[in-house]
Amino acid sequence: MPHTLVVDGRPREVDVSGLPSLATVLRDQLQLTAAKIACGRGECGACTVLVGGRPTMSCITPAVLVHEPVETSEGLAEESRDLREHFADTGAFQCGFCTPGQVVHACALLRTGLPDDDGARREHVRHALSGNICRCTGYQAIVSSVCAVADERAERATEVAS
Ligand code: FES
Ligand code: FES
Repeated sequence: MPHTLVVDGRPREVDVSGLPSLATVLRDQLQLTAAKIACGRGECGACTVLVGGRPTMSCITPAVLVHEPVETSEGLAEESRDLREHFADTGAFQCGFCTPGQVVHACALLRTGLPDDDGARREHVRHALSGNICRCTGYQAIVSSVCAVADERAERATEVAS
């Protein structure tokens, strides 16, 4: 059964016979493999992509029900460059299996803006990313990376405006 997904700005014809998940369609039909299928039941966040700008667990989302634009880790490569650099610099990933989902979710979070207060910001990020489970890192560097990028982007915006 044909279905059109808009993925990273491009209309893509996919086959949704058998009601595959969005994750399966992205990985097996479109060769977009950054989103990982780990638990496969909506518990870990490794398969996170954005649907209509919202972080979405693609392993439990039937592709046939997706009518809003999909953004993948691959499509967010430019937007997430500073975030990925911070992740690499601070050791915010080890095995890296959770990282595409973490980065995609953080992209959406950074678009919304974060609290100014440092403690409130860390708590906000920690809570927002709590559905993206990491078995390796202890989360501290992940949260610090997202907060640092928020600071840097705010500074750059101030410089541009002044
Ligand atoms: S693989 Fe989708 S939530 Fe775990
Ligand atoms: S870096 Fe290994 S699961 Fe997060």
